[in-house]
Amino acid sequence: MEKSLYHSIQLPGVTLPGNLFLAPLAGYTDKAFREIAKIYGADFCYTEMVSAEAIARGNQKTHDLMERGDSEEALGIQIFLSQPDQAERALPDILHYSPSLIDINCGCPVPKVVKTGAGAALMQQPERIYALVRRLSSATEIPITVKIRSGWNESSINFEEAGRAAVEGGASMLGIHARTRLQGYSGTSRWEHIARLAEMLPVPVIGSGDLFSPQAAKDMLQQTGCAGVMFARGAIGNPLIFQQTRSLLSTKGDVILADNSEDPMKARDAQLVRRLTIGYYHLQRELHYKNEPRACAEMKKHLSAYTKGFPDSSNLRNKLMRCTSLECYRQILQEYLQHHFSVDLQESLGPLNPAQ
Ligand SMILES: Cc1cc2nc3c(=O)[nH]c(=O)nc-3n(C[C@H](O)[C@H](O)[C@H](O)COP(=O)(O)O)c2cc1C
Repeated sequence: MEKSLYHSIQLPGVTLPGNLFLAPLAGYTDKAFREIAKIYGADFCYTEMVSAEAIARGNQKTHDLMERGDSEEALGIQIFLSQPDQAERALPDILHYSPSLIDINCGCPVPKVVKTGAGAALMQQPERIYALVRRLSSATEIPITVKIRSGWNESSINFEEAGRAAVEGGASMLGIHARTRLQGYSGTSRWEHIARLAEMLPVPVIGSGDLFSPQAAKDMLQQTGCAGVMFARGAIGNPLIFQQTRSLLSTKGDVILADNSEDPMKARDAQLVRRLTIGYYHLQRELHYKNEPRACAEMKKHLSAYTKGFPDSSNLRNKLMRCTSLECYRQILQEYLQHHFSVDLQESLGPLNPAQ
């Protein structure tokens, strides 16, 4: 029988309940965002990338990034490093947070990271990837996974070599963002690289790159044969993408809209209201974990994504960008929802129910 596109993923000693992941996203995938993504259907989430060196030195802010949210049972901790001894020194502290898996970042293109030999710089040294994975996997039972890119640049596409090195070192799962380091986040991702990796490796391969809709996720699963997909930019400001993808994968049909309305405009409006309300709920959860000025400042980038595609959205965003308190956000969103959709924010928040 044909395997369903939506399924669990088995790693040594750990079962991931499904194959729709929230990718690691520096500056975004904190406790609150992971919590929201989980509520709306993400099966597995990662921390933002954390520096193994900073972990080993006991940096408190770095340690905070590894903590779980209130209801978070499973979590992948992603680290960046370049030296096996950093892995060894950081490991006891990482284990203190009981991650479900430890992921090694071999894809970050940022100069500050690359110049230390970490992130995408590792794509230039597959033997170093092998050494890092080996050091970690021989020191813990927790699955060690690796997230790579297609290569450093167009003339050094070496994901096959990097993937093989990771698996030989003991990696239990590979993620691939199918762009080169030189591409950064521009251009299109090369899904054929995901397909090749999925075909050649004996471990699950998770695809990443250009997943901006449920249909794109379904296409990636079908076209590449990868075990799972990682939503990244497509989930920022739109955590409903997980639920919609689950629905698409399991019903074989169209994405189910929020109110099942016959009227497409009404259904679209309901979906927009729901998205913005989730944005406000997200802010409330940020406030649960951070102080008000920090939560409000950090929510700006999220809310700017939550408001994409709304009527008169640039005006709305301008107002929101000036907020420094929850009350300010509440008033602006309340006024906006009333004016454009005749909806009360508080009432809309009430029935926020992922099952709807
Ligand atoms: C703002 C931002 C932060 C990111 N941070 C990380 C990170 O910490 N670790 C990582 O492995 N990838 C990181 N990525 C890469 C994503 O996980 C993902 O592989 C990439 O965005 C491609 O997917 P997309 O085209 O669907 O966005 C980041 C991407 C963005 C846009």
